[in-house]
Amino acid sequence: MTLDPVSAAIHADRASLWHPFTPHSAWFDPDFEPIVIVSGEGSWLTDIRGQRYLDGNSSIWTNLHGHRHPVIDRALMDQLGRIAHSSFLGLTHTPAIDLARRLLDFARPPAPAPGEPLTRVFYSDDGSTAIEAALKIATQFFQQNGEPQRTRFLSLGRGYHGDTLGAMSVSHSPQFHAPYQHLLFLTQSVPPPACYHCPHNRALPERGTDSRQVRRCQWECLHPVEQAANDLGPQLAGFVAEPLVQGAAGFLMHPAGFLHRATDIIRAHGGLLILDEVLTGFYRTGPRFAHHSENVAPDLIALAKGLTGGYLPMAATLLTERLFLGFDGGPDRTFYHGHSYCGNQLGAAAARANLDLLADPGLPARLEAIHDSLREVGQSFWKLENVGDVRQQGTILAIELVADFSTRTPFPPARRLGAAICRQAASFGLLTRPVGDVLLLMPPYSTTPDEVRAMGHALLRATQTTLAHA
Ligand SMILES: Cc1ncc(COP(=O)(O)O)c(C=O)c1O
Repeated sequence: MTLDPVSAAIHADRASLWHPFTPHSAWFDPDFEPIVIVSGEGSWLTDIRGQRYLDGNSSIWTNLHGHRHPVIDRALMDQLGRIAHSSFLGLTHTPAIDLARRLLDFARPPAPAPGEPLTRVFYSDDGSTAIEAALKIATQFFQQNGEPQRTRFLSLGRGYHGDTLGAMSVSHSPQFHAPYQHLLFLTQSVPPPACYHCPHNRALPERGTDSRQVRRCQWECLHPVEQAANDLGPQLAGFVAEPLVQGAAGFLMHPAGFLHRATDIIRAHGGLLILDEVLTGFYRTGPRFAHHSENVAPDLIALAKGLTGGYLPMAATLLTERLFLGFDGGPDRTFYHGHSYCGNQLGAAAARANLDLLADPGLPARLEAIHDSLREVGQSFWKLENVGDVRQQGTILAIELVADFSTRTPFPPARRLGAAICRQAASFGLLTRPVGDVLLLMPPYSTTPDEVRAMGHALLRATQTTLAHA
């Protein structure tokens, strides 16, 4: 039997592939037809049937400037004309050197923050490996610089830093990581400072507002940080956190001032500040990096996802000179860590082009227009009684659905409401992925206000349709 091209592609996929974060029951559901993407242009993706979709989550939070951007395309083609990849072990090359200098420049906060600047770049492949490198650098630094007892990391509850063993150890996602618990090293967590879910927030739910703006509390979320830092005492190696927005936790958003205050506590106990800017970096939350709005100077930051504009897997861990100099010496003080594709020329070429595009003087106005139109979209959701919280940071809009607004009671997870809504949204021309029942719009920076409104319209319609048939 000969299959049409769509069925043939899907049949071949189902016969030989295994997709990340995808239950078999969903992928092999006979009523579900996977979308086969064949091309992209700007904020649009096109499938094998010729159907077009708006890329509502920037291809899993990676794409910054839209697909097939001529500047990044050209940079890659130019680089291909020279070389795609050579080893970074004992060799070097201009794309990686140049990128490092420019990244460090880009990471310099607009106003000096108390602490040391970031002066070194260690390359790896993706968000997980950037975190893994940061954890190992911190650990070895203390070991060989007179504080070997500093082995314990503190991190935010529900945080997500990736799927390698170290990244999982500082993450707190039972659903993703429970089977591997016995493989992970011991870390401590503190509750995430997420006002909508915070037991210390005495404000009643209020329609039309971001719960962070109307919170009523005494910064009780800092008490566990203080307590944990005291308990760990001289064992505290560092505090690992996604600044301002915890993506995979359900786009939890922190009140302004939390990170700054938590950092003061960590510093007072001699711990390092390790920030995961994998999702929040490159203007996503407003400033160049999310931590720039908190007047803190991290010791290490992890970058990936948007680093190459969403083109290629490449990551970077940026660190201070003090940490780098802690490895001065010979083979007994070497950082024996790396990956075959560290500093890859093609990735570096894409990342440099990304930085060129981020320097475009027209970008701030475009980001503001996306921010404002996302805000309108967020407001439009308040007419649905099952909207519990609408929160926005920069060009990230998250809409949390609940069974009961006044008690903030969630829907039963088994209902997979968020997933059903996003499946419906695809039929209205929008691709995005929820986190549980938190719906997300996080468009590429190429998106026009009209396209943002079209995304919002498709998502609202999908939510109404799905809730009506539930
Ligand atoms: C904040 C954060 N850190 C780390 C990671 C892991 O990145 P990767 O999937 O590239 O390994 C992710 C992935 O979603 C993330 O959101």
